[in-house]
Amino acid sequence: MKVRPPRTWTTVLHCLLISGLIVEAIEPVSTSLLLGTGAAVLGKKLYHYFYETCDENWLNFNATGLKHDLSTKLYGQHVAAQVVLKAVTGFMNNENPKKPLVLSLHGWTGTGKNFVSQLIAENIYQKGMTSNFVHLFTATAHFPHEAHVDKYKTQLQEWVRGNVSICPRSMFIFDEMDKMHPGLIDSIKPYLDFYDNLNGVSYRKAIFIFLSNAGGEKIVEVALDFWKDGREREEIQLKDLETALSLSVFNNKNSGFWHTSLIDKNLVDYFVPFLPLEYKHVIQCGLAEMVSKGHAPDKEVVEAMARDLNYFPKEERVFSMQGCKVIPARLDFYV
Ligand SMILES: Nc1ncnc2c1ncn2[C@@H]1O[C@H](COP(=O)(O)OP(=O)(O)OP(=O)(O)O)[C@@H](O)[C@H]1O
Ligand SMILES: *[C@@H]1O[C@H](CO)[C@@H](O)[C@H](O)[C@H]1NC(C)=O
Ligand SMILES: *[C@@H]1O[C@H](CO)[C@@H](O)[C@H](O)[C@H]1NC(C)=O
Ligand SMILES: [Mg+2]
Repeated sequence: MKVRPPRTWTTVLHCLLISGLIVEAIEPVSTSLLLGTGAAVLGKKLYHYFYETCDENWLNFNATGLKHDLSTKLYGQHVAAQVVLKAVTGFMNNENPKKPLVLSLHGWTGTGKNFVSQLIAENIYQKGMTSNFVHLFTATAHFPHEAHVDKYKTQLQEWVRGNVSICPRSMFIFDEMDKMHPGLIDSIKPYLDFYDNLNGVSYRKAIFIFLSNAGGEKIVEVALDFWKDGREREEIQLKDLETALSLSVFNNKNSGFWHTSLIDKNLVDYFVPFLPLEYKHVIQCGLAEMVSKGHAPDKEVVEAMARDLNYFPKEERVFSMQGCKVIPARLDFYV
């Protein structure tokens, strides 16, 4: 009995034979060509792997991740978490935003303003805060001398322009905004507005985040009123804080200019209030810090540390004076 290979086999064999002949015919050019292309593809892969590029290899918004982080890592900030998630998700999902996203984060010290900026960065850029497309400017560190304000102005404008031309999805965080010279704030104003482009550069995909303690005391007042009335902290809504916030920023002498130029022109898209943190949040921060330092979370250790912190008002001891800020340093004495 004769076994006939199926038709497909013969076809495959024929093809192999023909391609073999062709390869032989045009050797060695094809091999080097193949190798060359291979190397180029590999090189490109490696380049994208090691060198941070402004594309989806390194830059991808993870809405689920941001939501998860805000609800599990950020404590006691239900209003801020909600506003930030809505603002960032809406902006990042919009293919064609009309203006850059401008967030202004306000609140008492150590309540998570820098921390939230970090969470946002980590859910957009693979490299988080260390990304080449994330820029953190601290008023007192980067722009310390009033006399040099003109130099700072041109420098800052050049940095923003230069970086946005390299990567439209750039993020700029301005820390200690209430200590920024009015002239400097003025110099970045055009970038925050509705423009198709300025001198050929479009800023509409960029994100600007301002951090400050401005309005922090007013926010504390609102939170304390709720506490005194025996109401739940979680009942506090954005609208309860919004008026207090804008009025206080308006009345603060140092940030008066900031108010008139940024707020009146509606350049800020969202004001994000951060509530003062309570004892129970300090405990949460402490436990998280223990884990991040590689210890097993120990409630007794954290409680001992939390008890020794300062709280205000003096009588009632409701809110942590330094929020969660000193915990990383303090905890070392208790473990
Ligand atoms: N609400 C919070 N939830 C979880 N961790 C927090 C929170 N607030 C602060 N922390 C922790 O404390 C550290 C310091 O907080 P952060 O630097 O964000 O404070 P801040 O609001 O920027 O204060 P400041 O106004 O003094 O600059 C953070 O890195 C984080 O580990
Ligand atoms: C987005 O975040 C979620 C939750 O942290 C994570 O499980 C998921 O892997 C992330 N997705 C991407 C594409 O990074
Ligand atoms: C981008 O910003 C950084 C500061 O974060 C600055 O040092 C750098 O020169 C800027 N790049 C360009 C091209 O302007
Ligand atoms: Mg800060």
